[in-house]
Amino acid sequence: MRRKLVVGNWKMNGSLAQNKRLLDSLAQGLRDVSHVDIAVCVPYPYLFQAQAVLAGTSIAWGAQNVASHDNGAYTGEVSAAMLKEFGASYVIVGHSERHGAYGESAANIAEKFAIAKGYGLTPIFCVGETLQERESGVMEYAIANQLDPILSVSGGALLDQAVIAYEPVWAIGTNKTATPEQARAAHSFIRERIAALHPGAAESVRILYGGSVNSRNAAQLLSMSDIDGGLIGRGSLDADDFESICRAAC
Ligand code: PGA
Repeated sequence: MRRKLVVGNWKMNGSLAQNKRLLDSLAQGLRDVSHVDIAVCVPYPYLFQAQAVLAGTSIAWGAQNVASHDNGAYTGEVSAAMLKEFGASYVIVGHSERHGAYGESAANIAEKFAIAKGYGLTPIFCVGETLQERESGVMEYAIANQLDPILSVSGGALLDQAVIAYEPVWAIGTNKTATPEQARAAHSFIRERIAALHPGAAESVRILYGGSVNSRNAAQLLSMSDIDGGLIGRGSLDADDFESICRAAC
């Protein structure tokens, strides 16, 4: 039985004062929620703050990207070892906002996935089709193209306990959520694809849905079979909304 996981992806939002209010409210408001794993992935400069406020609570924290190298002359990059030093548990890799805008390749994302795992972080690897790919009937092909480099680079052991987020690009930040059935179908395709190569890992990998999840649609989406939780953007920036989404995951 996979435990549900709800992760807030703050993207490039926040300030010390706003974060303090949000993190304090979450720490307080989610104290009694023990049926679901909860995390927030914050911008790098706020990792220290997340650690300071959330240490000792049941809410974990993480980052939104990681370098594909251990250390060295990589200006502007942040390593997995550094994330570990700030107590991070999770790191998002391959978010569509990154591979679109910063040209991350599938091979590069697979390296990030492997390095995160190697340092004991849980990578949250994002896949998802564009609207054009969905409408032209190549959605599964597009998702497989993103998934396969990870499946071939990483053995079953690396995939074990990892997290994949299915995030249809057309649903991110648009208020157009996938229907529960669309999301379920994509999730079962992803799990079957993993099972074909790494049957053992397929059962333990948690597959989150992301894309305009909010407090109104969360319960329906997160109750679908094969949907093991959510990756939440805007809905994670408001304490009441994020709390409702976490409570809806059971
Ligand atoms: P959204 O973002 O919830 O604002 O659509 C989700 C994501 O990009 O992870």
